[in-house]
Amino acid sequence: MGALDGKKVVVIGGSGGIGYATAEMAHKEGAHVVLTSRDKSRAEAAAAKIAGKSGRITPGVAEVGDRAATAAFLKSHGKFDHLILSGSTVHRLVFDALPEKESYESFDSKFWGPFWAAYDGRHHMNKGGSIIFYSGAASRRPLRGYVVGAAIDGAIDAATRSLAWELGSEGLRVNCISPGVILTDLIRKGRTQAEFDKRMQEHSKRVPLGRIGEPSECANAALFLMTCGFVTGEVLAVDGGTEAAP
Ligand SMILES: NC(=O)c1ccc[n+]([C@@H]2O[C@H](COP(=O)([O-])OP(=O)(O)OC[C@H]3O[C@@H](n4cnc5c(N)ncnc54)[C@H](OP(=O)(O)O)[C@@H]3O)[C@@H](O)[C@H]2O)c1
Repeated sequence: MGALDGKKVVVIGGSGGIGYATAEMAHKEGAHVVLTSRDKSRAEAAAAKIAGKSGRITPGVAEVGDRAATAAFLKSHGKFDHLILSGSTVHRLVFDALPEKESYESFDSKFWGPFWAAYDGRHHMNKGGSIIFYSGAASRRPLRGYVVGAAIDGAIDAATRSLAWELGSEGLRVNCISPGVILTDLIRKGRTQAEFDKRMQEHSKRVPLGRIGEPSECANAALFLMTCGFVTGEVLAVDGGTEAAP
Protein backbone atom coordinates (compact mmCIF):
# COMPACT_ATOMS: atom_id res chain seq x y z
CA MET A 1 0.00 0.00 0.00
CA GLY A 2 1.38 3.39 -1.02
CA ALA A 3 0.35 6.71 0.52
CA LEU A 4 -0.80 7.92 -2.93
CA ASP A 5 -2.50 4.76 -4.23
CA GLY A 6 -5.24 5.67 -6.70
CA LYS A 7 -4.21 9.34 -6.90
CA LYS A 8 -3.12 11.25 -9.98
CA VAL A 9 -0.25 13.70 -9.50
CA VAL A 10 0.73 16.25 -12.16
CA VAL A 11 4.30 17.57 -11.93
CA ILE A 12 5.02 20.62 -14.09
CA GLY A 13 8.82 20.53 -14.37
CA GLY A 14 9.35 16.87 -13.55
CA SER A 15 12.29 16.09 -15.81
CA GLY A 16 14.93 17.31 -13.38
CA GLY A 17 15.79 18.47 -9.88
CA ILE A 18 13.15 18.72 -7.18
CA GLY A 19 10.29 17.99 -9.60
CA TYR A 20 11.92 14.78 -10.78
CA ALA A 21 12.51 13.61 -7.19
CA THR A 22 8.87 14.40 -6.38
CA ALA A 23 7.58 12.53 -9.43
CA GLU A 24 9.75 9.54 -8.50
CA MET A 25 8.49 9.56 -4.91
CA ALA A 26 4.83 9.94 -5.98
CA HIS A 27 5.19 7.00 -8.37
CA LYS A 28 6.80 4.90 -5.63
CA GLU A 29 3.86 5.76 -3.36
CA GLY A 30 1.40 4.37 -5.90
CA ALA A 31 0.24 7.48 -7.79
CA HIS A 32 -0.27 7.81 -11.51
CA VAL A 33 2.20 10.57 -12.40
CA VAL A 34 1.98 13.05 -15.26
CA LEU A 35 5.41 14.59 -15.61
CA THR A 36 6.47 17.45 -17.90
CA SER A 37 9.50 19.03 -19.49
CA ARG A 38 9.72 21.79 -22.10
CA ASP A 39 11.21 19.09 -24.31
CA LYS A 40 9.39 15.90 -25.28
CA SER A 41 12.46 13.65 -25.26
CA ARG A 42 13.55 14.86 -21.81
CA ALA A 43 10.07 14.16 -20.43
CA GLU A 44 10.06 10.69 -21.99
CA ALA A 45 13.54 9.90 -20.67
CA ALA A 46 12.60 10.94 -17.13
CA ALA A 47 9.35 8.96 -17.25
CA ALA A 48 11.15 5.83 -18.50
CA LYS A 49 13.81 6.17 -15.80
CA ILE A 50 11.24 6.45 -13.03
CA ALA A 51 8.66 3.95 -14.10
CA GLY A 52 9.84 1.82 -17.01
CA LYS A 53 6.66 0.33 -18.39
CA SER A 54 4.59 0.47 -15.18
CA GLY A 55 1.76 2.23 -17.05
CA ARG A 56 1.45 4.69 -14.17
CA ILE A 57 3.42 7.50 -15.73
CA THR A 58 2.62 9.87 -18.58
CA PRO A 59 5.26 12.22 -20.01
CA GLY A 60 4.17 15.55 -21.47
CA VAL A 61 5.37 18.93 -22.68
CA ALA A 62 4.61 22.20 -20.87
CA GLU A 63 6.16 25.69 -20.80
CA VAL A 64 4.75 27.31 -17.68
CA GLY A 65 5.12 30.79 -19.21
CA ASP A 66 2.55 29.91 -21.89
CA ARG A 67 -0.71 30.20 -19.96
CA ALA A 68 -3.07 29.00 -22.68
CA ALA A 69 -0.98 25.95 -23.59
CA THR A 70 -0.44 24.99 -19.93
CA ALA A 71 -4.18 25.32 -19.23
CA ALA A 72 -4.98 23.14 -22.25
CA PHE A 73 -2.39 20.59 -21.12
CA LEU A 74 -3.93 20.39 -17.63
CA LYS A 75 -7.41 20.04 -19.10
CA SER A 76 -6.28 17.21 -21.38
CA HIS A 77 -5.39 14.84 -18.53
CA GLY A 78 -8.82 14.39 -16.98
CA LYS A 79 -9.35 14.87 -13.27
CA PHE A 80 -6.25 14.82 -11.09
CA ASP A 81 -5.53 15.13 -7.38
CA HIS A 82 -2.30 17.03 -6.84
CA LEU A 83 -0.58 19.75 -8.86
CA ILE A 84 3.16 20.20 -8.28
CA LEU A 85 4.45 23.46 -9.75
CA SER A 86 8.22 23.15 -9.55
CA GLY A 87 9.05 24.15 -13.15
CA SER A 88 10.05 27.70 -14.06
CA THR A 89 12.94 29.62 -15.59
CA VAL A 90 14.77 32.12 -13.44
CA HIS A 91 17.82 34.04 -14.63
CA ARG A 92 20.79 34.63 -12.37
CA LEU A 93 20.05 38.17 -11.22
CA VAL A 94 22.76 40.10 -9.42
CA PHE A 95 21.82 43.48 -7.90
CA ASP A 96 24.93 45.43 -8.98
CA ALA A 97 24.12 44.92 -12.67
CA LEU A 98 20.45 44.04 -12.64
CA PRO A 99 19.13 43.31 -16.15
CA GLU A 100 15.60 44.71 -16.51
CA LYS A 101 14.36 42.30 -19.20
CA GLU A 102 15.58 39.18 -17.36
CA SER A 103 14.11 40.48 -14.08
CA TYR A 104 10.64 40.73 -15.65
CA GLU A 105 11.07 37.39 -17.42
CA SER A 106 12.01 35.68 -14.15
CA PHE A 107 9.01 37.13 -12.31
CA ASP A 108 6.71 36.14 -15.17
CA SER A 109 8.02 32.58 -15.26
CA LYS A 110 8.40 31.75 -11.56
CA PHE A 111 5.43 33.72 -10.18
CA TRP A 112 2.85 34.20 -12.93
CA GLY A 113 3.49 30.84 -14.62
CA PRO A 114 2.64 28.66 -11.60
CA PHE A 115 -0.04 31.15 -10.45
CA TRP A 116 -2.05 30.84 -13.68
CA ALA A 117 -1.43 27.09 -13.83
CA ALA A 118 -3.02 26.82 -10.37
CA TYR A 119 -5.82 29.23 -11.27
CA ASP A 120 -6.70 27.35 -14.46
CA GLY A 121 -5.78 23.84 -13.29
CA ARG A 122 -8.04 23.87 -10.23
CA HIS A 123 -11.08 23.30 -12.45
CA HIS A 124 -9.75 19.82 -13.26
CA MET A 125 -8.86 18.75 -9.73
CA ASN A 126 -10.66 16.35 -7.43
CA LYS A 127 -11.92 17.62 -4.08
CA GLY A 128 -9.42 16.77 -1.36
CA GLY A 129 -6.52 17.49 -3.70
CA SER A 130 -3.75 20.02 -3.30
CA ILE A 131 -1.52 22.47 -5.14
CA ILE A 132 2.15 22.92 -4.22
CA PHE A 133 4.14 26.02 -5.18
CA TYR A 134 7.91 26.47 -4.79
CA SER A 135 9.41 29.70 -3.48
CA GLY A 136 12.81 29.90 -1.75
CA ALA A 137 14.48 30.74 1.56
CA ALA A 138 15.63 34.12 0.21
CA SER A 139 12.17 35.60 0.79
CA ARG A 140 12.66 35.42 4.55
CA ARG A 141 16.45 35.18 4.76
CA PRO A 142 18.04 37.80 2.46
CA LEU A 143 20.92 36.74 0.26
CA ARG A 144 23.18 39.62 -0.84
CA GLY A 145 22.57 40.47 -4.50
CA TYR A 146 19.38 38.42 -4.76
CA VAL A 147 16.74 41.15 -4.35
CA VAL A 148 14.51 40.25 -7.30
CA GLY A 149 14.66 36.50 -6.55
CA ALA A 150 13.67 37.23 -2.95
CA ALA A 151 10.76 39.40 -4.11
CA ILE A 152 9.50 36.66 -6.43
CA ASP A 153 9.71 34.13 -3.60
CA GLY A 154 7.88 36.51 -1.25
CA ALA A 155 5.09 36.98 -3.79
CA ILE A 156 4.68 33.19 -4.04
CA ASP A 157 4.56 32.83 -0.24
CA ALA A 158 1.88 35.55 -0.03
CA ALA A 159 -0.17 34.10 -2.89
CA THR A 160 -0.07 30.67 -1.23
CA ARG A 161 -1.77 31.96 1.91
CA SER A 162 -4.41 33.95 0.03
CA LEU A 163 -5.15 31.17 -2.46
CA ALA A 164 -5.63 28.75 0.43
CA TRP A 165 -8.56 30.96 1.49
CA GLU A 166 -9.95 31.21 -2.02
CA LEU A 167 -9.79 27.49 -2.78
CA GLY A 168 -10.60 26.02 0.64
CA SER A 169 -14.31 26.26 -0.13
CA GLU A 170 -13.67 24.29 -3.36
CA GLY A 171 -12.15 21.47 -1.28
CA LEU A 172 -8.60 22.17 -2.44
CA ARG A 173 -5.54 22.86 -0.32
CA VAL A 174 -2.71 25.19 -1.35
CA ASN A 175 0.78 24.96 0.10
CA CYS A 176 4.31 26.01 -0.74
CA ILE A 177 7.75 24.50 -0.27
CA SER A 178 10.46 27.06 0.42
CA PRO A 179 13.76 25.33 -0.37
CA GLY A 180 17.13 26.40 0.91
CA VAL A 181 20.04 25.47 -1.34
CA ILE A 182 19.26 22.06 -2.85
CA LEU A 183 21.64 20.08 -5.04
CA THR A 184 20.11 20.36 -8.54
CA ASP A 185 21.20 21.62 -11.97
CA LEU A 186 19.70 25.01 -11.06
CA ILE A 187 22.54 25.82 -8.70
CA ARG A 188 25.23 24.17 -10.87
CA LYS A 189 24.51 25.92 -14.16
CA GLY A 190 26.83 28.75 -15.19
CA ARG A 191 29.46 27.81 -12.60
CA THR A 192 32.71 25.92 -13.00
CA GLN A 193 33.23 22.98 -10.65
CA ALA A 194 35.70 25.03 -8.60
CA GLU A 195 33.27 27.98 -8.32
CA PHE A 196 30.47 25.61 -7.40
CA ASP A 197 32.51 23.84 -4.69
CA LYS A 198 33.64 27.15 -3.17
CA ARG A 199 30.10 28.52 -3.12
CA MET A 200 28.68 25.36 -1.56
CA GLN A 201 31.37 25.34 1.13
CA GLU A 202 30.61 28.97 1.97
CA HIS A 203 26.89 28.36 1.95
CA SER A 204 27.05 25.28 4.14
CA LYS A 205 28.58 27.41 6.90
CA ARG A 206 25.39 29.49 7.00
CA VAL A 207 23.15 26.42 7.42
CA PRO A 208 22.57 25.00 10.92
CA LEU A 209 22.79 21.45 9.54
CA GLY A 210 26.08 22.36 7.83
CA ARG A 211 25.24 21.08 4.36
CA ILE A 212 23.11 21.71 1.31
CA GLY A 213 19.95 19.69 0.74
CA GLU A 214 18.95 16.79 -1.50
CA PRO A 215 15.99 16.90 -3.94
CA SER A 216 14.55 13.83 -2.19
CA GLU A 217 14.21 15.91 1.00
CA CYS A 218 11.92 18.34 -0.85
CA ALA A 219 10.02 15.33 -2.23
CA ASN A 220 9.43 14.08 1.32
CA ALA A 221 8.00 17.49 2.21
CA ALA A 222 5.70 17.33 -0.84
CA LEU A 223 4.47 13.89 0.24
CA PHE A 224 3.56 15.29 3.64
CA LEU A 225 1.74 18.26 2.08
CA MET A 226 -0.14 16.00 -0.34
CA THR A 227 -1.25 13.53 2.31
CA CYS A 228 -2.00 15.64 5.40
CA GLY A 229 -5.53 16.81 4.70
CA PHE A 230 -5.63 19.53 7.38
CA VAL A 231 -2.64 21.56 6.15
CA THR A 232 -3.28 24.51 3.85
CA GLY A 233 -1.78 27.97 3.40
CA GLU A 234 1.51 26.61 4.73
CA VAL A 235 4.95 27.73 3.53
CA LEU A 236 7.16 24.84 4.56
CA ALA A 237 10.88 25.60 4.76
CA VAL A 238 13.10 22.71 3.61
CA ASP A 239 16.37 24.48 4.20
CA GLY A 240 18.46 22.75 6.87
CA GLY A 241 17.40 25.45 9.34
CA THR A 242 18.58 28.41 7.22
CA GLU A 243 15.67 30.57 8.37
CA ALA A 244 16.49 29.85 11.98
CA ALA A 245 20.19 30.68 11.66
CA PRO A 246 21.39 33.66 13.76
N1 LIG B 1 17.63 24.11 -6.10
C1 LIG B 1 17.64 25.10 -5.22
O1 LIG B 1 18.63 25.33 -4.51
C2 LIG B 1 16.41 25.96 -5.02
C3 LIG B 1 16.46 26.94 -4.03
C4 LIG B 1 15.37 27.76 -3.83
C5 LIG B 1 14.24 27.60 -4.62
N2 LIG B 1 14.22 26.64 -5.58
C6 LIG B 1 13.00 26.53 -6.40
O2 LIG B 1 12.53 25.19 -6.44
C7 LIG B 1 11.93 24.91 -7.72
C8 LIG B 1 12.59 23.70 -8.37
O3 LIG B 1 13.98 23.99 -8.51
P1 LIG B 1 15.04 22.93 -9.07
O4 LIG B 1 16.32 23.23 -8.38
O5 LIG B 1 14.48 21.58 -9.05
O6 LIG B 1 15.17 23.44 -10.60
P2 LIG B 1 15.84 22.67 -11.85
O7 LIG B 1 16.83 21.66 -11.38
O8 LIG B 1 16.34 23.78 -12.73
O9 LIG B 1 14.62 21.90 -12.52
C9 LIG B 1 13.62 22.65 -13.12
C10 LIG B 1 12.58 21.75 -13.76
O10 LIG B 1 11.61 22.60 -14.32
C11 LIG B 1 11.59 22.47 -15.74
N3 LIG B 1 11.47 23.81 -16.30
C12 LIG B 1 12.43 24.77 -16.40
N4 LIG B 1 11.91 25.88 -16.94
C13 LIG B 1 10.61 25.62 -17.17
C14 LIG B 1 9.53 26.40 -17.71
N5 LIG B 1 9.72 27.66 -18.12
N6 LIG B 1 8.31 25.82 -17.82
C15 LIG B 1 8.09 24.53 -17.41
N7 LIG B 1 9.07 23.75 -16.89
C16 LIG B 1 10.31 24.30 -16.78
C17 LIG B 1 12.88 21.76 -16.11
O11 LIG B 1 12.63 20.92 -17.23
P3 LIG B 1 13.23 21.13 -18.70
O12 LIG B 1 14.51 21.92 -18.58
O13 LIG B 1 13.45 19.71 -19.15
O14 LIG B 1 12.15 21.84 -19.43
C18 LIG B 1 13.11 20.89 -14.88
O15 LIG B 1 12.34 19.70 -14.95
C19 LIG B 1 12.09 26.21 -8.52
O16 LIG B 1 10.94 26.99 -8.39
C20 LIG B 1 13.26 26.89 -7.86
O17 LIG B 1 13.29 28.28 -8.06
C21 LIG B 1 15.28 25.81 -5.81
